[in-house]
Amino acid sequence: MDTDRLARQLSAVAGPAHVLTDPALCASYETDFTGRYRGRARLVVRPADTAQVAEVLRLCRAAGVPVVPQGGNTGLVGASVPTPDGDEVVLSLRRLDGVGEVDPAVGQVTVGAGVVLSGLHRHVASYGLQFGVDLAARDSATLGGMIATNAGGERVVRYGTTRANVTGLEAVLADGTVLDRLAGLPKDNTGYDLTNLLIGSEGTLAVVTRARLRLVPLLPERVTVLVGLGSLEAALGLVARLRVLDSLELAEFFMAEGLALVLRTSGLPAPFRTSYPVYLLVECAGRRDPAEELAEVLHAAEQAGELGETAVASADADRRRLAAYRERHTESVNAVGVPLKLDVTVPHGELAGFVADLPGVLAGRGRPYLFGHLAEGNLHVNLLEVAAEDEDAVTGAVLERVAAVGGSISAEHGVGRAKARHLHLSRSEAEIAVMRSVKAALDPGGVLNPGAVLPGEGTGGMPGPGR
Ligand code: MLT
Ligand code: ZN
Repeated sequence: MDTDRLARQLSAVAGPAHVLTDPALCASYETDFTGRYRGRARLVVRPADTAQVAEVLRLCRAAGVPVVPQGGNTGLVGASVPTPDGDEVVLSLRRLDGVGEVDPAVGQVTVGAGVVLSGLHRHVASYGLQFGVDLAARDSATLGGMIATNAGGERVVRYGTTRANVTGLEAVLADGTVLDRLAGLPKDNTGYDLTNLLIGSEGTLAVVTRARLRLVPLLPERVTVLVGLGSLEAALGLVARLRVLDSLELAEFFMAEGLALVLRTSGLPAPFRTSYPVYLLVECAGRRDPAEELAEVLHAAEQAGELGETAVASADADRRRLAAYRERHTESVNAVGVPLKLDVTVPHGELAGFVADLPGVLAGRGRPYLFGHLAEGNLHVNLLEVAAEDEDAVTGAVLERVAAVGGSISAEHGVGRAKARHLHLSRSEAEIAVMRSVKAALDPGGVLNPGAVLPGEGTGGMPGPGR
């Protein structure tokens, strides 16, 4: 397909200002924020609404041109950037940023795919409500991308993943057909659940254009605690104690090496006089102040000799200060190199053993920084200084160990292009065959995000590490 001709056709749909072919203008759409996944787009198109998205998809499909949907481009598995082939159109959803009125009768709101998470939080707070999902990339991540990846984040222990907080979708199929499931009815058992099929499909089955979101009460009383601990076992023990609290919002962990890196790159002061092997960040929230019930649990753990120093905060600025030690891990790792990021779930009973065995699995290939969402057994294994020739072997070795202990090779970031060839470690042959049938039914031309999720598909290779 002649790119100039396609650009002219798409300009007639989205307007010439929203079809980008200049490499300088396309650059930010072609690289993920870690710098690991870099590709080259045929062009970038930025439609304004659902009708334009449908027309863009129709034109691309007719031209046989693959499309990579993109939201805030905060994805970490190479699914939101094009391959190096220069073949794909990047379809940016950021202009679909309309936010509807909150319907207090049902506690729901309809938003465009391009709405940024922190903007949604602000919008619904004035109604005394909040969206249950929250994550460190809240100022860039868009709802469309979060839905496409079924983002998890920090509050899954209380509110579940994105899936549990979406009641309906509007999405466009590869042929331009618009599916409208925005009614958001709490009870609706009319056949296959298309909304849930599309959530987590990483732009391979349809392009999400709008979403109906479930909102939960905004809880006014909040307390955050940072705890130093002697071991991962002690941190897991504390998480087990905390589970009795219905006010528990998050239990996030990081380790001494990660904290040292955060302190070095951010200039933040050390949280405690002593350094601990493991740190747990805990937050509780309720209509009534949860500080006392949290203190009771911490006291019992302290009596059992399980706790080191603790720092407690209730004021917003102080709570944010404690959360920063955990949330700034991603940028700190990025600040010193291009990480190999492996986001996995390990069953709780296997976690401590998995972490203890990791040095043997890595065999000196890379420097590990571990952090993540301990309540869900979700480890972010970030590896720096892995030699390019070792990356495949290291990825395979870690993911195989995860599978061997009954975990998942992707907890919350998705499969993307990065893990497609490892999908068999978490999904059976029969399951992958069903996934292929679904893909073939919804996108017979293989236009949508080829090469993502399913192995051996599509036109392009994995966008390469960009160092
Ligand atoms: C996080 O938990 O901070 C995010 O998943 C991002 C990351 O893994 O770096
Ligand atoms: Zn995470």
